[in-house]
Amino acid sequence: MSVVKESWSSFDSNIAKIYLDGFGHPSDRSKHLMASVLIEIFGGKEFHLADFGCGNGHLYRFFRERGLNLRYTGYDFSTSLLEAARERYADDDKAAFLERDIQDPTADLGNADIVLYSHVLEMLEAPGASLTAARKMAPRIMIRFFQPPADGFDLVEIRMLDVGNGEAEVPYLRRSFSIDHYNLLLSKTGCTSVDVHQVAGDVDQVHILNF
Ligand SMILES: C[S@@+](CC[C@H](N)C(=O)[O-])C[C@H]1O[C@@H](n2cnc3c(N)ncnc32)[C@H](O)[C@@H]1O
Repeated sequence: MSVVKESWSSFDSNIAKIYLDGFGHPSDRSKHLMASVLIEIFGGKEFHLADFGCGNGHLYRFFRERGLNLRYTGYDFSTSLLEAARERYADDDKAAFLERDIQDPTADLGNADIVLYSHVLEMLEAPGASLTAARKMAPRIMIRFFQPPADGFDLVEIRMLDVGNGEAEVPYLRRSFSIDHYNLLLSKTGCTSVDVHQVAGDVDQVHILNF
C-alpha cells in the first residue's frame, strides 16, 4: 500500500463518518456554488456524477438536499472513508462506491455525464494521468480547488492530516498549480475551454472543463 493511500485509509471509524461534513475544514460557499453550477448545466434532468476522491460521500447527500436529480458513483482509495460511505447509503440504489486509484489511466472506471474533483486534484501525485482517465469517462469535468491555479511557481508539499484517532497526524501530498502547469495538463487532455466560477471574497474556485 502506498504511504498516501495508507494515510487516507487511517481515519478513525467514527471520524470517517463526519470527515468534511463536520470534522475538518469544509468551505460551504463553494459547496453551494457547485450545486448551482450543476443545476445550470443539467437543469432538472437526471445525470450521472462520478465523484473522484469522494471520501465518505457526503457531497451526494448535499446535492440531493439541494434538489439535484443525480445518480452518483463515488471513487476513492481510502478503505475507512469508503466503509463510512457504504454504511451511510446502504439503502440508496442511486449511489454506488468503488475502491479505485483515480490516477490510473488504464483502469476501467465506467462512464458518467460529469466527473467531479472536489478538493482532490491538488492531492494527487499524477493529476495529468487522472484527468486523462476522467476525460475517457465523461464529456465534462468539474474541479473545486482549495488553491486555484495562480500566477506563481508550482509547489508540492507534504502536509500532515488529522485523522482523528488521537495519535500522530499522517502525511499527505498537497500541491499548488501554476497557471502554466495547469494549462499544459488541460491541453494534453484536449480541453477546449474552462468556465471559472467563484463566490466573491472566497478563495475556492469551481472550474468546468469543456472538451
Ligand atoms: C480532501 S478529501 C476530499 C473529499 C471530498 N471530495 C470532499 O470534497 O469533501 C480528498 C479525498 O481524495 C481521496 N484521494 C486522494 N488521492 C486519491 C487517489 N489517488 N485515488 C483515489 N482517491 C484519492 C482521499 O482518500 C480523500 O477521500
